[in-house]
Amino acid sequence: MAELDWSNLSFQYRKTEAIIVSYYKDGQWSPLAATKDFDFHFSAFAGVFHYANACFEGLKAFRGADGKIRLFRPDENAKRIRRSGGHLDMAVPSEEMFIEACMMCVRENIEYLPPYGYGASMYLRPVLIGINPQLGIASSTEVLFAVMCAPVGTYSGAKILTPGTAVLARNYDRAAPNGTGAFKIAANYATSLHPYNLAHRQGYRELLFLDPATKTRIDEFGSSNFLAIKGNTYVTPLSDSVLPSITNKTLQTVASDFGMTVEKRVVPVEEIAEFDEVNACGTAVVITPVCSIDDKPTLESTEVTRTYHIPSGDECGKVSRKLYDRIRGIQDGLEEDTHGWCFEL
Ligand SMILES: Cc1ncc(COP(=O)(O)O)c(C=O)c1O
Repeated sequence: MAELDWSNLSFQYRKTEAIIVSYYKDGQWSPLAATKDFDFHFSAFAGVFHYANACFEGLKAFRGADGKIRLFRPDENAKRIRRSGGHLDMAVPSEEMFIEACMMCVRENIEYLPPYGYGASMYLRPVLIGINPQLGIASSTEVLFAVMCAPVGTYSGAKILTPGTAVLARNYDRAAPNGTGAFKIAANYATSLHPYNLAHRQGYRELLFLDPATKTRIDEFGSSNFLAIKGNTYVTPLSDSVLPSITNKTLQTVASDFGMTVEKRVVPVEEIAEFDEVNACGTAVVITPVCSIDDKPTLESTEVTRTYHIPSGDECGKVSRKLYDRIRGIQDGLEEDTHGWCFEL
């Protein structure tokens, strides 16, 4: 086992043992291979460097209380990367190949899979990148599929379930109407770097994007979905420009299992004032509570026109906690996996 401070991991790059690679050329994928070489060698004219011909995924592996190793819903990530790569018109791995590459990655880096009990996990990062030399704007004909990993703790570095502040992105969008917001493609993330830097410099943990067409409805955070609790109802935005989060989908099922009503619908910004609990949800953030959301004319402005104080405040809300405990319990093998979400290694 690697000598790491398992209780103080954040969400950061850390070199591990190996990465898994396969190359697509002339209509076929090369066999999956593990390599200790973390540097890729391909042309400076590769499409990825110029036109962002790339998409990726994020999923986690857990060492359970029972000693078993579980990957959480890798089949869903496989489907999503196939959609994202399909949108870029590049070759994509089959679902079986994707899952096998993820399992290989965990096996090859087993020393870095955090022990049970530290709230830590192994984050897997599969990528598809276009590598053939090209000058004109075109889809890639040669593709590198790689899976790498890193042991991680909480996304923000704060203690689990510690609420943080957020600000609305009034004058920036992460996606265009009819654009690529619903795909996990690299270009979406470049768009959010500058507004995120502005928000972070002002001390906000999160940036909440609105629907790009009307700027009147909530879309999602830059790297996670928006979920709110209103009485016994789970509310999450319905929007074409939001990434379909696997965590959100899972939590909706969990909420239904708890007898809650699940509403996936348009969420007007002003409705924030009616929510009891608000969270970011995603693989990396799991459930991360939000305690307040500022509305400003622009991200650059010092003026705050309205602050929405979430009633759960500096504590994680009770319902959010219950949802968190169930999903983490299933991932850790403490609760029965009645929906068959975990793939054992
Ligand atoms: C923009 C965006 N929204 C939502 C999510 C959460 O999705 P998931 O729960 O599948 O990790 C992510 C992370 O993948 C993301 O990048």
